[in-house]
Amino acid sequence: MNCPGDIVYNFCLSVRNGSFQVLAILHYFYFFGMRNGFIILFFLVSAVPAFSQENLITNIPSRKTIGLNGKWQYIIDPYETGFYDYRWQEKNENDRDAYWNTDVPSNKMDRKEHGYSDKYTLNVPGDWNSQAQKFLYYEGTVWYKKSFDFQKSNPSDRVFLYFGAVNYRADVYLNGKKLGMHKGGFTPFNFEIPAGVLKTKNNFLVVKVDNKRFKDEIPTLNTDWWNFGGITRDVNLVILPKNFIQDYSIHLEKGSLEESGKTIAGWIKLSGINSSNEDVTLEIPELKFKQRLSATSDSVAFKFKLSGLQLWFPTKPKLYQVMITSRDDRVMEKIGFRSIEVSGKKILLNGKPLFLRGICVHEEIPQGTRRAYSRQDALQLLEEVKELNANMVRLAHYPHNENMTRMADSLGILVWSEIPVYWTIDFENAEVLQKAKGQLREMISRDRNRASVIIWSVGNETPINDSRTSFMKELTATARKLDDTRLISAALESHTENNVHIIDDPLGQFVDLVSVNEYLGWYGGLPSDCRAATWEVKYDKPLFFSETGAEALGGFHGDSLTRWSEEYQEWYYKEQVEMMKRMPANFIGLSPWILNDFRSPRRNNPVYQEGWNNKGLFDHSGKKKKAYYVLRDYYRSIKRHEQENSLEK
Ligand code: GCU
Repeated sequence: MNCPGDIVYNFCLSVRNGSFQVLAILHYFYFFGMRNGFIILFFLVSAVPAFSQENLITNIPSRKTIGLNGKWQYIIDPYETGFYDYRWQEKNENDRDAYWNTDVPSNKMDRKEHGYSDKYTLNVPGDWNSQAQKFLYYEGTVWYKKSFDFQKSNPSDRVFLYFGAVNYRADVYLNGKKLGMHKGGFTPFNFEIPAGVLKTKNNFLVVKVDNKRFKDEIPTLNTDWWNFGGITRDVNLVILPKNFIQDYSIHLEKGSLEESGKTIAGWIKLSGINSSNEDVTLEIPELKFKQRLSATSDSVAFKFKLSGLQLWFPTKPKLYQVMITSRDDRVMEKIGFRSIEVSGKKILLNGKPLFLRGICVHEEIPQGTRRAYSRQDALQLLEEVKELNANMVRLAHYPHNENMTRMADSLGILVWSEIPVYWTIDFENAEVLQKAKGQLREMISRDRNRASVIIWSVGNETPINDSRTSFMKELTATARKLDDTRLISAALESHTENNVHIIDDPLGQFVDLVSVNEYLGWYGGLPSDCRAATWEVKYDKPLFFSETGAEALGGFHGDSLTRWSEEYQEWYYKEQVEMMKRMPANFIGLSPWILNDFRSPRRNNPVYQEGWNNKGLFDHSGKKKKAYYVLRDYYRSIKRHEQENSLEK
């Protein structure tokens, strides 16, 4: 049955309240007749997060871009000469000896003591540590330089420079003009290029990258991973119309699993000048769904009921092509719809109890001793996860590149995504809290439409004290404000009394999932201590082991009591698996530490480590260790049980 769209709508009230802009839609009705049923569109009072990264552009793969990947020239600058040049005291940004200005001598008399040359190039994306021996342990500044030509097709277009990530601090200059500075090694950022800065020929793009560690940064001075520096992910010029679709959220309304139809909700944020009364259209062609919305102010919220929607499951990761069109812009991407929630001591995926057969992964390709960044890297890592019979991956300890979360959507792998609030952060420092919130915003902005991501983690193993708990509580509140459709967690602290393992970390009050890292039989005791171990959780919430593991040097063999041998690690996993089978009903899964051996400057046993943390189930060369098969078989038995009981129809 068809009936014309009959639009009745009132005004929208845009209330700017502090840093949080609330767009209260009073009410707005659409009635659409659709061949396969009615869509009833209704608006509630809904809030569109405004402090989510004010200017981060999402869904870059769908935009008009010019890639800047490839060879960039560089200068290594451990003494910051290019920044604090002796003439810097003149505070003259056009200081001709600054490394962001032209390196061409003005005449044969000119004395230039720096310059960019094809003799010195680095691949972008990629960490610098793995590209030349001299960079292996380097921590400091490297100046990157790229020249490019540019022809603007439409004079009113806006041009942005978008970085997938730079570790750790990036100062970005174009043709001698500073575009901006970003801190945070694992999340995207973009700077608009002001009119008049771009040239048609030979643009001089310089990025000062500094990966030095500091007490008041996120992460802080001490971590158990390699401090890979550089422009570690893709760089693109993004060409957009004056008023473009900047960001949006579209998801299954929590708990809306009625057979009669699923409720999809979300919002669309335009970024432009005076976007008032601009219509945007939302389409899901496979469901023969198309609807027009009127965005007043710069955003519009929506909610609608849809029949015939197939939910996203790990065993059946259904993705729909979603298109959003505004007057001058169009974005599209494949999105899955699912619900994730806690019910008592269980977590429910699409209303069904879920057990997480997970594994932890660092963003590294051990064979290359390098940061992972490409689709191919993501495929390699996630196919290993699938082969393990796992259904979940904990992306430790920082947001991984966007290829990982998009690939997880396609492969049906659930994701725990985390900001690197790791160990002894400077919790007393208000600025550090803002930095952590910034990284949280950037992580959530980029991946809020990824069905695979079910958990936002605000940190790992942070030592308990009042300032830490208040800091972390703030982060859980910020995460919920930015996204109340997912679970919030963190790796909490626990303590042991006579083999009774007690989890009463005060942070447990503020998370949905009580998660702990346990190493019973590696950091203390023997694997056989698992047999008598019991666990007590202070909170009436689901319990998850976010880490458990032991080291083994791949290929080193001995009896099961020989530390560092594959047999010890195998015994560890056997005892751990037996303990998992005996865990109480609130135990909803584990993500052992870790899929692959990885680099760490903390691991200096001259025989069994040599700068590697060898808790991987795969060794440096990608060979499976004996423990791999213990976990794989445990997960296979759970998977078979679930299939027999058709828990995931
Ligand atoms: C900790 C930490 C990891 C670390 C691991 C280990 O739990 O979260 O980052 O690598 O233990 O000791 O190997």
